Amino acid sequence: MSEYSRLSDDQSSGVIVAAQSGPLTGEVTVPGAKNSVLKLMAAALLADGVYELSHVPRIGDVDIMAELLTQLGLRIEKIAIPNPEQDGQKLRIVNSGNIATVAPFEIADRIRASVNVVGPLLGRLGEVDIALPGGDDFGGRPIDIHLRGLEAMGATFTFSDDGLIGRANGLHGADISLEFPSVGATENLLMAAVCATGTTTIANAAREPEIGDLCLMLRSMGAHIEGIGTQQLVIHGVAQTSLQSTTHTTVADRVQAATYMSAVAMCGGDVHVKGAIITHMEMLMSRFTDMGMTIAPTDDGIHVRSSGRLSAVDISTLPYPGIATDYKPLLVTMLGVSDGTAVVTENLYPGRFRYIEELRKFGADITIDGHHAVVRGVEHLTGAVVHAPDIRAGAALVVAGLAASGMTEIRDIHHIDRGYDDLVGRLAALGAAVSRVD
Ligand code: EPU
Repeated sequence: MSEYSRLSDDQSSGVIVAAQSGPLTGEVTVPGAKNSVLKLMAAALLADGVYELSHVPRIGDVDIMAELLTQLGLRIEKIAIPNPEQDGQKLRIVNSGNIATVAPFEIADRIRASVNVVGPLLGRLGEVDIALPGGDDFGGRPIDIHLRGLEAMGATFTFSDDGLIGRANGLHGADISLEFPSVGATENLLMAAVCATGTTTIANAAREPEIGDLCLMLRSMGAHIEGIGTQQLVIHGVAQTSLQSTTHTTVADRVQAATYMSAVAMCGGDVHVKGAIITHMEMLMSRFTDMGMTIAPTDDGIHVRSSGRLSAVDISTLPYPGIATDYKPLLVTMLGVSDGTAVVTENLYPGRFRYIEELRKFGADITIDGHHAVVRGVEHLTGAVVHAPDIRAGAALVVAGLAASGMTEIRDIHHIDRGYDDLVGRLAALGAAVSRVD
C-alpha cells in the first residue's frame, strides 16, 4: 500500500504525435468512468470507515479530487494490484470522522466535480466553504440548480469574493423539481438527502449511468434510494450514524469506450472494446450504425468494425439517454471525413465548439451558426499542429491525427491526461501510429 501520489508532472508534459494509421485491430479495455469515480470518492465523506474503490482510472482529475479530499480529512492510499494498466487503480479511502468543511480554494477551483463535496458536507456537518468549481471552459457553468435544491432542504448560501459559503442547521427532506436534469445537481442533492430528516423527491433528475453508479454505492452504504435510473429519485433519509463504508467498483467509462470506437471509425478496423456497456450507449451505437459502422454486443463488451467512408448523419446532444455532449467532439471529427453534410446541434453547452478551429487546421470544413455546427465532409485530412482545448476535444484531435496524412502534433495534452487513462498506450496497442514525445 502506498500513500496517494499524483501522476508525475512528466506524464502531462510534452506533446502527442500521431500519423495516419489503420486498420486498428485487437482488444482495448475500457477504464472506469471519470464522471463516476470523482463523485464516488466524494461520497466517502458521508460515513466513517474504510472504503475500497476499484477500477479507478489513472487520470489527473482523480489526483486533484484525492488532494481535495485529503485536505478535508480523508486518507487515500493506493492498494497494489497486479495489472493497474488494464484494471485501473484500487484505492483505499479512510474516513476517521475528523472532517474539515473548508475546501482549499486553489484545489477546488481546478475541477468541476469539487462542487460535489457540498452535498455530503452540508448533509453531514451543516457547513461548507468552497471555491466556485472550475473545470473545462464551455462558457458559463452555473450551479444555481444545485443551490436552489439544497435551499429547499434548508441550506442557506452566501457568496464570498471567489467562493461559496453554505450553512444548514440539519437538512430536511423536500420535493425538488429540477428545471434541467443537471448531472452535478442530481448527485449533490442525492448525497445531501441521504441523511436528511424525512423524504426527498428529485423530479426531472439526471439519469446518466454514472448517477446510477453513485446510487448503488450510496445504497451499499445504507442509504434508502428508490427510482435508480429513472427521472424521479426518492431518498428516505437515515441517521448519519447508521451509514457505513463500503467497497465498490467504478462503472466503465462510456466516453472513453466511444473514443476507441471513433478511432476505429476513422482508421478502419476490427476491435473488441472490452468492458464497454452497450446499454449505456444505445443512442450513440444507433448513430454509429447509421454512419456505416458494424456494432455488436459481446459477453463482456462491444465489438466494432468499420471500413470505407462513413455516411453523414445529423446529431443533437441531449441529457441521457440522448447523445452525450461529451461524445460530440468525436462525432464532429468523424463527420469531418464522412460522405455528405451534417448539422450538429449542441443543447447543453452553447460554448462547446472551441475545438472546431483546431479541426479546421486539418482541412475540415466546419462552420458554426449559434449552437449548430455545419460539417461538410471532406475526403482527406492533413496533419497539423493543434492545441487540446479540453479533455474530450483533446482526445478527438488525437483521433483526427490518426486519419490525417502526414504528422500531427497535439499540444496542451495535460487536458487529455485529466480524463484519459493512457489514451496513447491503448491506441498504440491497437496498431495506431501515436506516441508521446517530450
Ligand atoms: N446547469 C445550470 N445550472 C446548474 C447546473 C447546470 O444552468 O446549477 C447547466 C450547465 O450550465 C449546462 C447543463 O446545465 O448547460 C448541464 O450541466 P450538468 O450540471 O448536467 O453538468 P456537470 O455536472 O457540470 C457533468 C460532467 C461533464 C458533462 C456534463 C453533461 C462531471 C465532472 N462532468 O458536468 O463532463 O459534459 O455532466 O453530461 O461529471 C467531461 O467529462 O469532459 C465533462 C465536461
